[in-house]
Amino acid sequence: KNKKKIMCGIIGIASNKPVSINIINSLKKLEYRGYDSAGLATLTDDSINEKKCSGRVEELEKILFKAPSNGNIGIGHVRWATHGVPNIINAHPHSSEQVSVVHNGIIENSDEIKRELVSKGLKFKSQTDTEVITLLITEALKENEPLKSVYKTLKKLKGSFALGIIFKNFSNIIIGARRGSPLAVGYSKEENYIGSDSYALKSMTNKISYLDDGELCVLTKDQISFYDESLKKINKKIHTMSESETAIDKGEYKHFMLKEIYEQPITIKNCISEYVDSLKKNINIINFPIEPNNINKIVLVGCGTAYNSCLTAKYWFEELTTIDVEIDIASEFRYRKLKFNSKNLYIFVSQSGETADTAAALDLCKKNNVKTCSIVNVIESTIARNSDWVLPIHAGTEIGVASTKAFLGQLTVLYILCLKLAIVRKDIDERTYVKNINNLKKLPEAIKECINIESNVQLMAKEFLSAKGSMFLGRGSSFPIALEGALKLKELSYLHAEGYPAGEMKHGPLALIEEGLPVIILAPKDKYFEKTLSNMQEVIARGGKILFITDNKKDSLNENIRFGLRVPHLDNLLSPILLTLPLQMLAYHVALLKNCDVDKPRNLAKSVTVE
Ligand code: AGP
Repeated sequence: KNKKKIMCGIIGIASNKPVSINIINSLKKLEYRGYDSAGLATLTDDSINEKKCSGRVEELEKILFKAPSNGNIGIGHVRWATHGVPNIINAHPHSSEQVSVVHNGIIENSDEIKRELVSKGLKFKSQTDTEVITLLITEALKENEPLKSVYKTLKKLKGSFALGIIFKNFSNIIIGARRGSPLAVGYSKEENYIGSDSYALKSMTNKISYLDDGELCVLTKDQISFYDESLKKINKKIHTMSESETAIDKGEYKHFMLKEIYEQPITIKNCISEYVDSLKKNINIINFPIEPNNINKIVLVGCGTAYNSCLTAKYWFEELTTIDVEIDIASEFRYRKLKFNSKNLYIFVSQSGETADTAAALDLCKKNNVKTCSIVNVIESTIARNSDWVLPIHAGTEIGVASTKAFLGQLTVLYILCLKLAIVRKDIDERTYVKNINNLKKLPEAIKECINIESNVQLMAKEFLSAKGSMFLGRGSSFPIALEGALKLKELSYLHAEGYPAGEMKHGPLALIEEGLPVIILAPKDKYFEKTLSNMQEVIARGGKILFITDNKKDSLNENIRFGLRVPHLDNLLSPILLTLPLQMLAYHVALLKNCDVDKPRNLAKSVTVE
């Protein structure tokens, strides 16, 4: 069965001038959602003009360069396939003679509908679930006007979607619809838009509304009408987006990832200044959804890198507060048989704020009437809008698929939240609170110092090229950083890497160690330091090639260590943040040496909006 599940980006523009160039520009911004294939459709001379390609938007741009598409109304799409080969036929838009559709989501009953339509004699061109939408609307248009046709079609669909639809015979409108997948609507002079997120619309407008589930919109170049799930006309709030986000081009950097690594001293400084009142030496976090003294437990949930930040924060909460902490991977959390408790605070960590599993985990909490908080980078995102309380990380747009500055931002906000809860609950005294705030303020400078050790990291990177795999080891709060270092290396360089608690090696993974295998040891001078050194000896004895990263000022390097790196020391609590920097750069340089696509690693997408 060749069913295509898709996680994609969509765009639609209704204008008084040709739209194809702006569609291409927006699709480039949406490539973080998928980059397997791309396409657009515009209305020209009363016909639907479709252009598609497999691969990147760049390819589509070349096609358009050779054969430009006119038309003042158009829709576009970037796709990320989880099943089947991404090819031109399965690329969106999917068009009939009458109608053209772009879709983000999954139609779960597409096989059933397909059988029905085929038995009526209709023909399908692709293997996608989306084409059933095109054909259903085409059928409905025989007896209904466009909005009614779309409405009737949606009633037949099970699953999730954000849709953009244009019509051959109604050449001034685009219809948008949402159920389960995000859809933003943008307003401008003589031009209106729909898009999977506000970021795709940013260069064209900062006035945005968001469709809620079940809602539809009809845009012309100078008007937008909204409808609820019973097709009653409704009004929507217009948000004006902030201008404060950092510039979104690579500037002097070779890759977005490198730029984002280098931005971290600034993004972390911004983040700290958003939360810390330097004069009063206080953290200005207020309006807790649960009175801090009444919080029974904190449950932290995220995916991938965001999960690693939750795991790091667990160590902080345990160290500084008396609150019980539980952590979970969102795709596990959402299916567990949980005992929800109204005294628990459920915190969802996500850069994009659109990750499907994290969003579903949040929805589950909402259904169970418990208080939710989100720690996100994109404040206009679904997760931010759906949670009771939002703590933004203020990292600016992150383009590189491998998360760097957002990870450090998540850690920083989690640490700040932890300090605030600790002082409000009197789990720490005022002196400790102020000391920790003072150390926190030194963090941006210390991060800058870590970045300056880049040339040493480049030497280290070479060690990975001929190796079978690698191990990243740490104890305590360095363990989640070992996981994060291994995740970065895997996703960027396609080399196998394992992150492990150093103390766990002898329970199995030590068998992997052989002559020359690169082993990264994270050994800050904390209470685990000596134990980590012993674990390192066990690895050395079996031939592992040690790359040692520490903040210990005294010389702990010896002839058994192939490479040593020293990061600055502020206090033990902040060491996981500083240890992250060399690991980000290591993954970057190994990927460079292997000629991998640093900003868009194979098989991945920036925002994982399918389950
Ligand atoms: C990080 O480098 C990864 N690309 C990935 O693990 C990511 O952190 C994860 O998909 C969660 O994304 P989110 O933060 O946008 O929810």
